[in-house]
Amino acid sequence: MVLPITSKVNSKGNLEIGGVDTVKLAANYKTPLYVIDKATVLNSIEDYHRAFKKTRLDYELIYAGKAFLCKGFCKILKQNDFSLDVSSGGELYTAIKAGFNPRRIYMHGNNKTLDELGLALRWGVGNIVVDNRAELRMLSKLRKKVSIFIRITPGISAYTHKYIETGKEDSKFGFALGSEALKYVKEALASPNINLKGFHVHIGSQIFTVKSFSRAIEKLMKFSASVYKKTGWQVGELNLGGGLGIKYLSKDKPASIEEYVKTLADQVKKQSKLYKMKINKVLIEPGRSIIGNAGVSLYTVGTVKKIPGVRTYVSVDGGMSDNLRPMLYGARYEALIANKADQKNRKRVTIAGKHCESGDVLIKDVALPNIEEKDILCIAATGAYGYSMANNYNRQPRPAVVIINKGRSNVLIRRETYQDIVRLDI
Ligand SMILES: Cc1ncc(COP(=O)(O)O)c(C=O)c1O
Repeated sequence: MVLPITSKVNSKGNLEIGGVDTVKLAANYKTPLYVIDKATVLNSIEDYHRAFKKTRLDYELIYAGKAFLCKGFCKILKQNDFSLDVSSGGELYTAIKAGFNPRRIYMHGNNKTLDELGLALRWGVGNIVVDNRAELRMLSKLRKKVSIFIRITPGISAYTHKYIETGKEDSKFGFALGSEALKYVKEALASPNINLKGFHVHIGSQIFTVKSFSRAIEKLMKFSASVYKKTGWQVGELNLGGGLGIKYLSKDKPASIEEYVKTLADQVKKQSKLYKMKINKVLIEPGRSIIGNAGVSLYTVGTVKKIPGVRTYVSVDGGMSDNLRPMLYGARYEALIANKADQKNRKRVTIAGKHCESGDVLIKDVALPNIEEKDILCIAATGAYGYSMANNYNRQPRPAVVIINKGRSNVLIRRETYQDIVRLDI
């Protein structure tokens, strides 16, 4: 489903999610508004645990905080046996402030600063995913015992948008597979402060072709076997990153969580048999597939501009400031009118944002019922990389995030005010 699993049309013809009327939500909390359905989040979390239990492999689930993070969400992760991947000092700070167990944090980033690494070590972060040589040397100098994973770039394509493809040789992330990676594995093994736990690989995001994940594991295991031969060190843990795609459009056909996990597990088992290497633990870092379909965005319709024979522009009270993905990589979405959820689609319109850029278009050519001023427009599948990429372009305050569960709503992140907008101005 594109919409959260609890979605339905209620007796008023309005879209209801998690037992809450979204038109009422829009009236109570104002728009634009991000809405997260807790049941959908818990459902994906449960799917991951169930799928891994079936494989009988020792596993660890690490949520990728870049998809969406706040203190309240850290609590949900903690309650559901998830670790956390952070990729900046700010994400790390959020987790620490939420009381998240630092031992269960994985620190990422292709350009971690000495300050960020220093904080991570001071706060007792359990795992650093080392991306490059400079970082390895900074860690050696910090003179504190630290456990690391080495990020390997396997040199394969993930068949996704080029901006979110990270596994190709031409990538800013990680150590290239082969002699470069081997050199730094040796350096890590020689450092008295560093405990090398395993390798990490992340080939990209919004991936539909599960065989790309298999290919990455194959290359990683071949490399691990050659490392063993040359150094006598055997890889213990494999962190296979995130990347499972989700359904943004009804026609999208991503793999299910079960199929994805089974593909990873089968390949790990096959390769460890081939190379006679026991893998102690498999870790993955899903983000989008946990939160993406759990979220929707609500907007109020303002101007409707009809250009006869050309198109109709429907402008809403948000745009590229709360959802950058359409502008960033041509991402496509589906929408419905929350207060006309029982009505048939009548014509195609273009949903435009309110920002001073012609490219600020949320959805080009979407079929909707007759749309008018003050209608509440709902864009589906905005839970991941929506709020986390939100910005203040045109000094637009960022919307609130509300979580709904069993007929109740709670604010996870409050709406920014105009006072917030000027709070840093000196
Ligand atoms: C290192 C790493 N791990 C995990 C993820 C999460 O990916 P996704 O949200 O596609 O599951 C990302 C995002 O690109 C990433 O860079």
